[in-house]
Amino acid sequence: MIITKNKKMPENFLWGASTSAYQVEGANLIDGKGPSVQDVKTVPEGTSELDVCADFYHRYKEDIALMAEMGFKAFRFSVAWTRILPEGAGEINPKGIEFYGNVIDECLKYNIEPIVTMFHFDLPQALEEKGGWSRRESIDEFVTFAKILFENYGDRVKYWLTINEQNMLTLVGDVLGTSNFDGVTNKYKKLYQANHHMLLAQAKVMKLCHDMLPNAKIGPAPNISLIYPASCKPKDILAAQNLNAIRNWLYLDMAVYGRYNNLAWQFLEERDAVPHIEPGDMDIMAEGHPDFIGFNYYSTATVEWSDGSGEAVTGNQQTGSSEPGIYKNFVNPNLLRTEFGWEIDPDGFRATVREMYSRYHLPMIVTENGLGAYDKLTEDGKIHDDYRIEYLRRHIEQIKLAVSEGVEMMGYCPWSAIDLISTHEGIVKRYGFIYVNRDEFDLKDMARYKKDSFYWYKNVIATNGEDLE
Ligand code: BG6
Repeated sequence: MIITKNKKMPENFLWGASTSAYQVEGANLIDGKGPSVQDVKTVPEGTSELDVCADFYHRYKEDIALMAEMGFKAFRFSVAWTRILPEGAGEINPKGIEFYGNVIDECLKYNIEPIVTMFHFDLPQALEEKGGWSRRESIDEFVTFAKILFENYGDRVKYWLTINEQNMLTLVGDVLGTSNFDGVTNKYKKLYQANHHMLLAQAKVMKLCHDMLPNAKIGPAPNISLIYPASCKPKDILAAQNLNAIRNWLYLDMAVYGRYNNLAWQFLEERDAVPHIEPGDMDIMAEGHPDFIGFNYYSTATVEWSDGSGEAVTGNQQTGSSEPGIYKNFVNPNLLRTEFGWEIDPDGFRATVREMYSRYHLPMIVTENGLGAYDKLTEDGKIHDDYRIEYLRRHIEQIKLAVSEGVEMMGYCPWSAIDLISTHEGIVKRYGFIYVNRDEFDLKDMARYKKDSFYWYKNVIATNGEDLE
């Protein structure tokens, strides 16, 4: 639809940006924090360890002041489970409680709404050693952790996100450093049992949030990419529906409606990976209701029919995977790519948002969206990231159109507020509005610089998205 009757962006739209604890904080084993799976993983060759990152742990005041200067209405960050509970369960670390309390207070000082992700890829290593999410006990471990967060921060935090990209944890955990298949004969079986436990944990935590904090709002935060068929051949359409179900709707159908998506279920049957479901599990699923959907969007993906030949291929969050007999990756010739090979598809953003809204009819907040690039600091202290501005502008344009089409959008928090370490491609893959003066292995002075996108986004926020130039 070519929109000529534009609507205004909602008042109180939550303009901001996002980070995650293990990628930005550093101080990974300091002040009582225990190790998470991210702290013990072998980082990909040529990329930095996660011990310093952007040193947000020590510099959060300076960083939040810069966010306030940009006019942020919201800041989405995650809490490191092992800063609060170093062993994942048991003793609480008072310094951890204090740190996130300080971060929240610092946000509120500037009227920035804290949006707290409870879990972003950093399971406590102590729990991982016991079997992690594969164990039924993990459900209550997460609920206990969530309760501590609600008790300590519920008076100040209105917006909660449960699990960041549970679909990526399940589909590409080896790239994220979260999978362990030692001694496992059927990896799908292990992954989807863990997935079932995470879904139960999420449902319980959503209910707990509503019971404990009646004024708070809570939602999931999967990575949603609408899947295109490679052509209008009917079999390609079926393949696209398969991956849409496995990658996207499995997670949202469960979060919103409390039921397993039938196509995803059939995929699990095909792979002998149906999870063990205990009596009462589906009642628990049905009792958890999100107030909104948080979602990360980087691009769409495209697939064609698979005749069942070939091997399964695992990509990363945004690049091609294939499952014989289910779908086969197809490179979309209509899209440009980032320097890191991720497709760029602003129209697909609107298509994704439209599809989600028609399926779930819940307000939505974009919890990630952004461009990873090799930024350059010039001698006079500037970063001319016009490519990032272009990317963000084109995506915000599509949100505005979606709003005109009647989709309820609550906010936009792109990735990332500040440069941080990427999941597997180091700090040279930069996303921030704020540049951190360090290289992959040379920490330099860690000084903060405002990129051109910093000034541009400031004006976008000041005009509530009216002026994108
Ligand atoms: C999302 C994650 O998958 O994408 C973030 O939630 C991540 O943690 C972001 O950093 C960008 O991906 P990457 O691989 O470039 O860091």
